[in-house]
Amino acid sequence: MINLNKNIYYAVFGNPINHSKSPKIHNFFLKKYDLNEKYIRICASKKFFLTEILSFFKNGGKGANITLPFKEKVYSICTNLTKRAKISGSINTLKKNYIGEIIGDNTDGIGLLTDLKFKNLINKNDNILILGAGGAARGIIYPLLKFGCNIYITNRTIKKAQILSKKFRKFGYIKCLKLHQLNKNKFQIIINATSAGISNNSPLVIPSDIFNKKIICYDMFYGNTDTFFMKFCKKLGATRVYNGIGMLVNQAAHSFFLWTNIFPNIKNILDILKN
Ligand code: ATR
Repeated sequence: MINLNKNIYYAVFGNPINHSKSPKIHNFFLKKYDLNEKYIRICASKKFFLTEILSFFKNGGKGANITLPFKEKVYSICTNLTKRAKISGSINTLKKNYIGEIIGDNTDGIGLLTDLKFKNLINKNDNILILGAGGAARGIIYPLLKFGCNIYITNRTIKKAQILSKKFRKFGYIKCLKLHQLNKNKFQIIINATSAGISNNSPLVIPSDIFNKKIICYDMFYGNTDTFFMKFCKKLGATRVYNGIGMLVNQAAHSFFLWTNIFPNIKNILDILKN
């Protein structure tokens, strides 16, 4: 049973969750806008996480973020979904509305796209390679296709990448590639959407010849230092290598907006996290 006291109304649920910077970001926003409320991290049980999330809302919770490995499975407790959550089949934000319904949303895609645009990294017609076919990948495909990019997707379990490329092809160009087919294509951006980094593993054995000085490597994962994927890309000659902090802050801003109707200014929190 989750005991909500001391003004705790928001939480992030995941397992593991210690690495999460979401409490820092949201508590900064809550304080900045004079809301006397708090946001905590909750390491949810892999078996009973749905009951735990429901109990959180029953006990006064107003909003939650959902991270790995629950982004797809949390679907079943939502009364309503936003369009982007429905299309992606992945949820990173929940809100309890004024009549007690749980609304599921996905702000990952808009968060990533905003950061890529802000950093001037993305152009229409870019070929983007996505590594991974779990909830994180699901959340970003639709906005990238809508922006006008071509998506190539590969995954350790190739069947899951095939399912995603079938699901999203009505929205734009998306193709599933096996590892040995990667070097027959030219990519402008590689995005790591696997959860391998959480255990400090290399996501996949990517052929080294797809890397060059110009290619943009973006890890949706983040840490205080370079992630495994970032080090791997740099070793193979990439120089334009980024972690997912910018995406994290942008997706958090959109979640915060859903909960409070306030779209927070992210500049200060980006500076705080960078330092
Ligand atoms: P999330 O919701 O964060 O995407 P997920 O649904 O558990 O989490 O998906 C994790 C993704 O990371 C999957 O694509 C997974 O590959 P599989 O589909 O083969 O399981 C990928 N992944 C996790 N650990 C990995 C590793 N060590 N090497 C390569 N891929 C990995």
